[in-house]
Amino acid sequence: MNGPYASIAGVGSELPARQVDNHHFAKYLDTSDEWIRKRTGIVRRHLADKDAKLCDLARPAAQKAIAAAGVTADQIDAIIVATTTPDRIFPATACLLQDALGVQGCPAFDVQAVCCGFLYALSCGEAMIRAERSSCALIVGADIFSRLVDWNDRSTCILFGDGAAAVVLKAAANPGIVALQLGAQGSSADILTAEGHPQRGEFCGKPVTRMDGQSVFTLATRAMIESSLAVCDQAAIKPDEIDWFVPHQANQRIISAVAQRLGIGKEKVVATIAEHGNTSAASIPLALDSIGEQIKSGDRVLMYAAGGGLTWGAALALVP
Ligand code: ACO
Repeated sequence: MNGPYASIAGVGSELPARQVDNHHFAKYLDTSDEWIRKRTGIVRRHLADKDAKLCDLARPAAQKAIAAAGVTADQIDAIIVATTTPDRIFPATACLLQDALGVQGCPAFDVQAVCCGFLYALSCGEAMIRAERSSCALIVGADIFSRLVDWNDRSTCILFGDGAAAVVLKAAANPGIVALQLGAQGSSADILTAEGHPQRGEFCGKPVTRMDGQSVFTLATRAMIESSLAVCDQAAIKPDEIDWFVPHQANQRIISAVAQRLGIGKEKVVATIAEHGNTSAASIPLALDSIGEQIKSGDRVLMYAAGGGLTWGAALALVP
């Protein structure tokens, strides 16, 4: 395949200021810091204030990514936001973000694939660049997932945090996103869902997260392993030739199980779950941003996720 290729040129992130540790939940629920740490690896998470807007988190993340990429906002020619918690039913958060960034005219749309959303959005941006419909795409993963949490359900409320992170994808002569695979299994929709929906101006049903944790654990682990191996096959490399593994941060035990099956040492696996919890679409780019200083040109970075849908995916990027 010839170019143009899509290359990650810059990363940026933003977290709400407020941090909530596990002891908060132990004050009113039958749970403990020890249980949460042991079963999930989570120690604390950032939570947005009640009136916070997703776009207000996404904008600084995007601006930092734009600066890191060495471009200016007016060079952005596509904006794709992965989110399950948009500010409005419509227009898309990407349109609100476009305005907030002072960008004009470029296509702007949201993608919804829950915790796998960032990889779905990355895939859209990569395809636009490969097709020469974009040369500088802003890809954002942003969620205020705490909006979809039942604070009295101890099996879910302890898992999630809020945040936003972005990458700038630029057209390049050399391969950047080397391989990519996405998938979904709608027959597993009910194991992780928020069933509320708008109807005649009202929200009907319950727009809070319900989860069969063990089924999600099993299917998400399997999906991430298979997707990662599929991407390695596409790129004709073995997992141990990869420098950085950047998993969706759902649960430390899932992260470790996938790493073990892929036969990789934990020094290569990026884990931010202890500090962020599960930030859904923001989780992978937040983790990517956390190793910004350590990544070197030529490094191979494997990102992989699974989420509600069930959706899954993996992408292998070569650092320019
Ligand atoms: N504190 C104390 N006890 C709890 C808590 C809690 N916060 N949550 C559940 N329990 C209890 C359960 O009620 C159950 O009690 P019981 O035996 O009396 O019925 C017991 O702990 C064991 O429950 P399990 O569900 O078997 O616990 P498990 O070890 O599977 O851990 C968990 C639960 C952490 C939710 C796990 O299943 C998990 O992480 N699943 C993946 C879910 C996930 O990551 N979802 C995020 C979105 S999807 C994604 O991002 C891929």
